[in-house]
Amino acid sequence: KKVVLAYSGGLDTSIIVPWLKENYGCEVICFTADIGQGEELSGLPEKAKATGASKLYIEDLTEEFASQYLFKLLKSGAIYERHYLLGTSIARPLIAKHMVEIAHLENADAVAHGCTGKGNDQVRFELTVMALDPRLKVIAPWREWNIRSREDALEYAAAHQVPVSSTLKSIYSRDRNLWHLSHEGGLLEDPWAEPEESMYQITVAPEDAPDTPEYVEITFEEGTPVKLNGKALSSATLIKALNEIGGKHGIGRVDMVENRLVGMKSRGVYETPGGTILMRAHKELEQITLDRDTLHYKDVMAQRYAELVYYGQWFTPLREALDAFFEVTQKHVTGTVRLKLYKGNIITAGKKSVFSLYREDFATFGKDNVYDQSDAAGFITLFGLPLKVAAMRDIATAVQ
Ligand code: ARG
Ligand code: SIN
Repeated sequence: KKVVLAYSGGLDTSIIVPWLKENYGCEVICFTADIGQGEELSGLPEKAKATGASKLYIEDLTEEFASQYLFKLLKSGAIYERHYLLGTSIARPLIAKHMVEIAHLENADAVAHGCTGKGNDQVRFELTVMALDPRLKVIAPWREWNIRSREDALEYAAAHQVPVSSTLKSIYSRDRNLWHLSHEGGLLEDPWAEPEESMYQITVAPEDAPDTPEYVEITFEEGTPVKLNGKALSSATLIKALNEIGGKHGIGRVDMVENRLVGMKSRGVYETPGGTILMRAHKELEQITLDRDTLHYKDVMAQRYAELVYYGQWFTPLREALDAFFEVTQKHVTGTVRLKLYKGNIITAGKKSVFSLYREDFATFGKDNVYDQSDAAGFITLFGLPLKVAAMRDIATAVQ
């Protein structure tokens, strides 16, 4: 019997290796997706073997993540519960998809993951496996073993000679990739407790950001960002560059209490510097390139898309259908946006597009030759007609 484990090298997935062997008597193949977590992946194969895995696959998925997942999200404009840019949610289907591919390659019977039974991630991993190969069994040790806490896990690691580096002893549960870094647990479990500054890892505090603002220019083609400051960059490289710049200016911190799919509310703090800038730039460009009806309707769809991504329903007909809708809306979202970054703020500096629907001659407060103000009178008469009829009825039927 063979199991493919989604492996990060962290405490939880490290102890899962000996646990699987002990409890399932199986061979364990580890799989690590490089999706820009920025961790040292070089020592990982040795580490996986030291904990008892027979093999470790590492795949660089950063470009696929950026172009096939993050930029779809960007085009949709989806944000979960007003703030969360979905950095962890969107990565899970990608990781699970490749885990299934490796299971096929290795002729494995099962896949395993290190998500707890209390979170969203287990759902996202398993829905993907169910959609792509329902014959694969899924093993979720957190739902089976009697390890209940970080302390238990550390104890199990010590008893099984699993090497644990000091950074793994952190009190926070973190997840990092190209799009974001999340923090949960520890001191954050009290929503009244302000995060300690030392918790943050990729953004500086706005008050520590430079006193001089920095301008960035982002160019989009049909909704996809293709250039930063006039320079063409690959999808992942562009996000990376914006993470640097945004992080330096304290952009993209979110501190919220969110509704998990499994029912409870949970506190999360997120750092999404590049993503926050891109989302803003994209929205600025849509302001001038989308017509009113499409813009309004798209925002409604974005809400649904955010739920779908958060719930792990990536490999579904609805997600594909919504993507097709968003794709059509992006036909004219081509142009450049200029933003000023200053101490945690993103300030719009300018936007332009050859497809702009903004017409100064129509909008001007000055003299124009295209708009006849007397047309508005008839428009208002008819637009307000239902209101007027209803009000007349109320006056006529009012009890004296
Ligand atoms: N609450 C966020 C979400 O559900 C982040 C989850 C972070 N996951 C993790 N394994 N640390 O998407
Ligand atoms: C976990 O429980 O594994 C992390 C948090 C989440 O999935 O929501």
